[in-house]
Amino acid sequence: MFASSSVVARLGAALAACAALLGCATSVPPASSKVPAPAPAAVAVPSVPVVSMKSLGLERGINLGNALDAPDEGDWGVVLTGSDFVAVKKAGFDHVRLPVRFSNHAMTTEPFSINSTFMARVDWAIDQAISNGLSIIVDLHHYAVLMTEPEANRARFVALWKQIAEHERDRPPSVAFELCNEPTAPLAVDEWNAIMTEALRAVRASNPTRTVVLEGLDWASAKNLRDTLIIPETDHHIVGSFHMYQPILFTHQGADFMPSEFETTGVVFPGPPSQPLEPSARAAEKGWVNEWFRRYNEEPAPRNPSGPATIDNQLDVAHDFLERTHVPVYMGEFGAIDHADSTSRAAWIRMTRQGAERRGFGWAYWDDGGRFKIYDRASLTWNQVLLDALLR
Ligand code: BGC
Repeated sequence: MFASSSVVARLGAALAACAALLGCATSVPPASSKVPAPAPAAVAVPSVPVVSMKSLGLERGINLGNALDAPDEGDWGVVLTGSDFVAVKKAGFDHVRLPVRFSNHAMTTEPFSINSTFMARVDWAIDQAISNGLSIIVDLHHYAVLMTEPEANRARFVALWKQIAEHERDRPPSVAFELCNEPTAPLAVDEWNAIMTEALRAVRASNPTRTVVLEGLDWASAKNLRDTLIIPETDHHIVGSFHMYQPILFTHQGADFMPSEFETTGVVFPGPPSQPLEPSARAAEKGWVNEWFRRYNEEPAPRNPSGPATIDNQLDVAHDFLERTHVPVYMGEFGAIDHADSTSRAAWIRMTRQGAERRGFGWAYWDDGGRFKIYDRASLTWNQVLLDALLR
C-alpha cells in the first residue's frame, strides 16, 4: 500500500540477522510432528527487581499506525477518531503507541518549529488516551533522513524533542515519549547513541521523570538493544524497546513494501507445512531464502525456522538486556500480515505475546489499519480470533 524506502531497506540487515539466527536454532530435541508446541522455556528471574511494565501502564498495548505516521493523516486511509480509543480500552488494552511523523510538520530551518495545528492534533490524541484511562507513548516515527544524513538533522531532531517535551511537560506520568522509531543504517551506532543522548538531555530539562522509550539500531532489533544501545546509568525512567517480526518470511510474506525475497505466500506457523512449499523463482535467487525454505519444509516444529525456537531466541536476547541493565523491556511492535492464514497468525501472536509476558516485557501489537490489522477502524470491529490470541 505504501512503499516506504526505509521499510524496504529494513530488509538487508533484518534478513542477515534472521538467517544467522535461524542457523543456530538446532539444539532442541527432535519431535515427530509440528504441534503441540513444546512447554515454555524457564526464564531466569533477574536478581535486582525491575520496574514492572504494569506499574508504568505499558503492559498490553496496540499501535495506532498509518494515521499520524503517514505523510499527512488520511494519506494511507486511516484517520483517528475518538471511537478508536474507546474500542481499545474496552477490548482490554492498557495503552496505545502513537506513531507520529513530526518531521513532516516542522520547519526545516531554525527554530524548527512544529506546526501548531499538527501539534494540536497530537494533543487531541493524548487527550483521548487520558480520558479513556489509557497510557500513551508518543513515538517519533519515519524520520528517514535522520538515518541517511544524521549530522544535517541532528539539531532539528533535538529541537523537535525539546518542543514536544516542553509542550507536554504537564501531562500525567501515563504519557511517555519514544525518541525514534527503528533507527537504522546508514546511521552508525556511535552516531545514534550520541544523537539519542542529546535529545534525551533536551527532554530531561523539562520532563525529569517522564518515561522515555529507547531502542537500538537495525530497526530496533533485540540484538542492538542488548549489544549497542547506551542507557544513561543515572536515568531511572528509561524503557528499552525492541521490535519482533521474526520469522520475517512468515510475518511479512507477500507484503507489497518488501522486495521479492518476501513474495512467497502460504507460509504457516509453526512449520513444517503439510505439503512442501517452494519459494517463488525470484525469492529463490537468494541463497538464504532457499536455505530457510529447505529447513522450513523439513525440520520438526521445535527447531523449525518458522517455529517457537525462533521466537524464543529473539526474546531471550532482549531478556539478556533486562538482566544486565535492570531496565524494563518493551516489545513496541510485533505483528503478522494477513497474507498468512488466520490460524497461523493467531498461533504466532499468542506464542510471541506469551513469551514476552513470561519474561516481564510490555508489548504493543502492530496494527497499522492496513494488512497487519486486527481492528477494522471503518466498521469498529475486532478480528476476534486474533484479539483472543493477544489478550486471553
Ligand atoms: C513501520 C511500518 C511497517 C511495520 C511492519 C513499522 O515500524 O512503520 O511501515 O508496516 O513496521 O513492517
